[in-house]
Formats: sequence, structure tokens, C-alpha cells
Amino acid sequence: MIDSILDQMTLEEQVSLLSGADFWTTVPVERLGVPKIKVTDGPNGARGAGSLVAGVKATCFPVGIALGATWNPELVSQMGKALARQAKSKGAAVLLAPTVNIHRSGLNGRNFECYSEDPMLTAELAVAYIGGVQGEGIAATIKHFAGNESEIERQTMSSDIDERSLREIYLPPFEQAVRRAGVMAVMSSYNRLNGTYTSEHHWLLTKVLREEWGFQGIVMSDWFGSHSTEETINAGLDLEMPGPARDRGEKLVAAVHEGKVEAATVRAAARRMLLLLERVGAFESKPDLTERAVDLPEDRALIRRLGAEGAVLLRNDGILPLAKTSLDRIAVIGPNAASARLMGGGSAQIAAHYTVSPLEGIRAALANANSISHAAGCRHNRLIDVFKGKITVEYFKGRGCKGNPLHVETVDKGEFFWFELPSGELDPADFSARMTMQFVPEESGDHVFGMTNAGLARLFVDSALTVDGHEGWTRGENYFGTANDEQRGTVALEAGRAYAVTVEYEPSTASGEGINLIAVRFGVEKPLGEADIEAAVETARNADLALLFVGRDGEWDTEGLDLPDMRLPGRQEELIERVAAANANTVVVLQTGGPVEMPWLGKVRAVLQIWYPGQELGNAVADVLFGDVEPGGRLPQTFPKALTDNSAITGDPAVYPGKDGHVRYAEGVFVGYRHHDTHAVEPLFPFGFGLGYTRFSWAEPRLSTGEMGSEGITVSVDLTNIGDRAGSELVQLYVRSPETKVERPDKELRAFAKLSLQPGETGTAVLKILPRDLAYFDVETGAFRAEPGNYQLVVAANAADIRFVIDLSSPLTHVLPPSH
Ligand code: BGC
Repeated sequence: MIDSILDQMTLEEQVSLLSGADFWTTVPVERLGVPKIKVTDGPNGARGAGSLVAGVKATCFPVGIALGATWNPELVSQMGKALARQAKSKGAAVLLAPTVNIHRSGLNGRNFECYSEDPMLTAELAVAYIGGVQGEGIAATIKHFAGNESEIERQTMSSDIDERSLREIYLPPFEQAVRRAGVMAVMSSYNRLNGTYTSEHHWLLTKVLREEWGFQGIVMSDWFGSHSTEETINAGLDLEMPGPARDRGEKLVAAVHEGKVEAATVRAAARRMLLLLERVGAFESKPDLTERAVDLPEDRALIRRLGAEGAVLLRNDGILPLAKTSLDRIAVIGPNAASARLMGGGSAQIAAHYTVSPLEGIRAALANANSISHAAGCRHNRLIDVFKGKITVEYFKGRGCKGNPLHVETVDKGEFFWFELPSGELDPADFSARMTMQFVPEESGDHVFGMTNAGLARLFVDSALTVDGHEGWTRGENYFGTANDEQRGTVALEAGRAYAVTVEYEPSTASGEGINLIAVRFGVEKPLGEADIEAAVETARNADLALLFVGRDGEWDTEGLDLPDMRLPGRQEELIERVAAANANTVVVLQTGGPVEMPWLGKVRAVLQIWYPGQELGNAVADVLFGDVEPGGRLPQTFPKALTDNSAITGDPAVYPGKDGHVRYAEGVFVGYRHHDTHAVEPLFPFGFGLGYTRFSWAEPRLSTGEMGSEGITVSVDLTNIGDRAGSELVQLYVRSPETKVERPDKELRAFAKLSLQPGETGTAVLKILPRDLAYFDVETGAFRAEPGNYQLVVAANAADIRFVIDLSSPLTHVLPPSH
């Protein structure tokens, strides 16, 4: 069928399939019955085509690093299925996920979205996720291919990565997704790879992806991440996103006529687009693009379970789990206690159906039997608290908010990120909007108003210009580098009085400076100071237990920015120290998208890392704290003692964050635990670390054979739960190559299994390895190569907790070309 459609298509029609129609849909060819399909972000939910922040509500699942911490492909596959149903509820046929870039440093703003520092763990979870999504008839889009391990200058930076590191560390998740999960789409990254944009990288997109791995799907660009006509199509990039066509359309038709692009190349790309449409069933029934909010009880239950399964208990002197009955007075403290930080920032954001903050979750778990007090103590937000309350928005044709509005609506949050304006008569390049609202302060004193805008905006308080985001506007970091840095203004306000706040917005007039988005975000807050920390300390002092919810939020852990350091932002470290000094029973619950330094670690009784676990946040936390379920998570990333112990942070700016447009991956394959183990840099918490509420005994492992042959080896380990609670245990299998001729990491993860066992129950962890698991990538011969000799199998609970080392001989040379 596809070939007959292609035969009937003009060159122009074939070309039309190779750019989006708009931000989220493809171009139909109605005369031949080729429908349009919709794509949607993203990894932790299906947002649909609306705004990043205020679209149709969607189910909010845990972020990537929280999934990485589950080490549970089965649950991740279930989440994939649920996400496919969510995508359908948004009329989408393609999900723009998963994100599988590697945690190269602790500072990548997008680490929260990615699974792990380890390619094997990443690949297993990606394969499970994609299998879940695609099993329901929705295409997954693995991203960002490749070398997008930082957000710094991400649209132009060249990630300079040697081939061996690419083959061993950065490409395997993509490779496995193609070979084992048959992923239907790949998204090229924004960055350049060794000097060439990945969207123009023939070696990457055609030689490796298609010829070696046998990829049958489509490659799409990241949004505005393709920059040329013949270079991208000749390299193997099928779909330019978003639409309408920028470098394709007439330009591509002309390039074919001029002989710069073969007609057969266009036909092959168009064919792959039609094949995608066929695979997602778009020819069978015309896709209905309507968007609905579908909030299912089974999804809520799955998210709650995943939240606990990814929660990593880093320290516990026995205080956890908390006994509900013995606690009279509980102080719930910290900037993440009453605010629900469900997810990271950037394109992965969705408008969640609902939120459950830790404070709400704890209240619900205790059913008011105890006295619960609360104090924030301090803030950690990068931007001023967004305005919440009734906002009337008037949209005008043309600039300057003149005449009668064309459209009026009310919203409840001061953040606007428009992909579509509410009326087709409004021109995104020539409209204006006036937002009016009232602000009634709870307390008297100085209040800070803040605003960041892609486009031009002014904020007035009682008609006085308070924040000027118009005069002298310059690009900063927000909204993917298209908005200014937040501008602020301070006003003394009286408690209880109603102030009129007005924001006037219009799009930028600048052109030719890259992407112009239309967005504005504004807010107001009363800064917290010494008195607020004091109040929190007092609250802790008057309680039997202090639960301290600290960390970051999606303004820090976000696309578009890297983190400035590995410390908790604001005065949180001080807050922890002071609360712990006032209450000997202090438990810290951390929410970050990666490691933080913990100078306060020895002063608190327990530390639980819960990442950003989605809409059931507070319930999942309460489940773990009160022992209804155990903390099932194990670290998917090494937590170094200090930032400078991180493998990418060498002090040389060319290695991180990059210099003169290049970031050199000088550490090669020594990423994460490969660096810590090999170079004897003791971590704060090793890769795979996490405590539970029970104990296990491990029996001596059994091997299916003592020699590696082409059929591989199975290692079986019996585990018995010898505690009195149900719990899970992770078994990791690393390979060590002591006789190596090339420099190799001390050990490399090649298999893992996680068992959940009832008290007294015994189960068997079965781990399988193949010849390639002994191999390194030999650049000279272009093949994975395992020399004959002696190897070791390292059976461990985490990278620093080795239980057994087993000698293994491999008498033959195994050479596996990349196409194998
Ligand atoms: C992100 C992608 C995302 C796309 C569409 C880009 O900014 O890098 O991951 O899928 O936007 O929202």
C-alpha cells in the first residue's frame, strides 16, 4: 500500500511529509488519504498540543532519574503502557520519549529526565519503557541522539567524544532500543557531535543507526534543531520539526531539481514517514486529534507504587520506618513540605491532574491522630513564586493593548507559554495581551515582584511600573534561552489591602536571532529571612520528630540550564543544621534531580531521596516513611562527596562546561562509578546504593558453565529475606578484565536483577551475560572485541559492596562487528 501511495505522490507531496505542519502535527496529503498525526512530549506524561504549563490536564508520572532508581524494568514497562493510553487521550500517535542521555556530570540540568550514569541500566529501562508504549500502538521517540549531556550552549555546542566512549557509554541505550525494542522514532539532539550537527551527521544517522543497527523508523530533529536542506536529508534526517517547513518545502524541491539531493533520498524518507503512519494505525482509522483529561485510578496506584520503588534510603540509624502510633507531635518543615514538586522543568512539563504535597500526604496518612505543625523555614526558588489566583486576560490585535479586546479569558496562574493563541485572528507576531489581577498580601512588608518574558512585557502595581521587561530587554536563560533573566522590583505592601497588578505583554520585534517564543511568567513573594528560619527551628524544638523536606524544583532541574553547583540552593544547608540541632529526631527527605553534597549528613537520623515522583508525591513519601512499603530505590548515579570528585569536573573548562563551542569528553569511558572505582575516588554513596527495611542473605552464586562460549553464561544467586518485613534486594553483575591490553574501567555493570521477597522467602536472581559483555570497542578494527584470557565476574549489591568475585576464563577471541 505504501509503495502505491508513494508512486502516486508528486515530489512536492513527498517533500511535504518531511516537515511538521505546525508545532505538534505532521502534514496530511488528503487526496491520497494520508492523514496527519500528532506528536506529544514527553517522558513523564503526555501533555498534548497545549501550553507547557496550562494545557489540558495530564497524568504526571515520575521523572527519568526516579525510574532509574527503581531498577525495575517491569514497572517501567507498565508505565510505558499507561503513557501510551495518555498519549491516546491527547490524540497523539507519537510520544517524544524516553530521554536516555547519560549522567555524565552531576550538573546537567536535564539529568532528572535521564535514567542513569550507566549505559546498561539506561538501556534496560529504555527497552522496557519503549516496549510498554509501542505495545499499545503508540510510537516512542528515543532522544536525544547523541551527546546531549549538558544544557550549556546546547543549540550549538560540539560534544567532542571519541568513538570508543560513544560505542561503550553513550550509544548503547539507543542501540538496544533499536535492536531489542524496535523503537519507531529517534530524535536527533541540538548539539554538534565532533563538530557536525547531529541532524546533519551521516555517520550517526545512516551508517551507525540504519546500516549497523538496522533501524527502520524515522529520525526527527529536535525542535528547531535542524539548520539546513541538503545536509540534513542526505545525512538521514527524515522529519524537520516543528513545522511549517523552514529548510525544506520549496527549498528541498529546488535542491532535488538542482541535483543536490537525489529524488530517491526524498522518496526513502517519505516512505519511512508513511511506514510510521501505518505502524501507528493512522491509515486504519483517521486519527482524532481531540484532547481529553483522563485520570485513571490504576494510573494513580502505579505512580504511587513507582514513587516508593524509586525512593532511595541513603541513611537510617533505625528511626525509619516511623511508627504511626508513637508520634505525638510532628514538625513538617522546609521549602518542599507544603509545595508539591512533582517534576522537572522544560519540555517534560505537563499540567498535572492534581498534586499531593508531602504535608498533605503525611496528614492523610496520620488521619489527624497526631499534631502536625508546619514551617517553610526558607525558600530555594530560582524565580519569584509564580502568581496564583484569578487573572483576567484580554487579547488584542496589534501591539500596545489598544481598542477592544478580541478575546477575554480567565486563568489561575501567572505563567503563559503559548503555542497557539486563543483566537485564529490573533497574529503571534503582532498581538498584545493585558493580564489583570488583585494581590492581597497576608503580611505587611517588602514584597518582591518578578517577571521573565520571551517577548516584551511590563508589570504595574497600582499603575506604577514595578518590573520593566521591555526597555533594554536582553536574552537570558529562561524559556530555553529565549526570555530575559528574571527582572525584579520591590514594593512595601500592607497586609489585607487589595493591590491591582497588571501585566502588558507583546511579542518580540527582533528577528533573525534564533527562535522567538511567546511566553511570560510573573510572580510575587515576601522574602523569607532570619525570622522564618527561627520560626522553623522553634517548630522543630516543640516536636517529637522533625521531617525536613528540602531539595530543588523544576526551576533548577530543568531543560535549558545546567546547575551552578552541587549544593542545596538558598539557606537550606543552614536550615538542616539548625533544625537538627533543635530536634535530635530529624529526618531529611531530599528532592533533587541528582547528587548534592551533604555536609550535614552525620547530624540527621535518616535521609530519603525521592527525586520528582509525579502526582502521588506526598502519598508515596508517606507510604515509605511510615513503612507501608519499603524504600525500593537504589542510586542510578554515584553521589560524589564533592563536585570536584565528579568524573567530568576536572577543573579544565574545555572538559566541562566547554570552551570555544566545544566540550571535550576527556574522561573517556571513565564516567560515574567507572571513574570512582578505577581512580579510587571514594564516593559519598556508591552507584546502586540504597537501604531497605529488611535484611537478606546471599548464597554462593552458581554458574551455568565456567567458560565463556558464544552462548554466554548464566549466573544464579539465591537470596533469602531474613528480616521480618517484605523487601527487595538488588543484585548487580559486573565484569572485570584484569588482563586487559587497553585501559578499561575497574568493573562494568553487565546485568542486574531485583527481587522482592516476603519475610523468610527465598528467590533466585538470574543474570545472563554474553561474549559482548566481556568486550571493549576496538576502534582500529571497528568491532567489539574480547581477548582470550581470564576475567572476573563481580557479584555485588552496589558498586562498593562486592559479595563474590568469580574467575572466568574465556579461551576464544570474540570479535563482534557493530552490525552484529
Ligand atoms: C526538547 C525535546 C522536546 C521538544 C519538543 C525540545 O526543547 O529538547 O526533548 O521533545 O523540545 O517539546
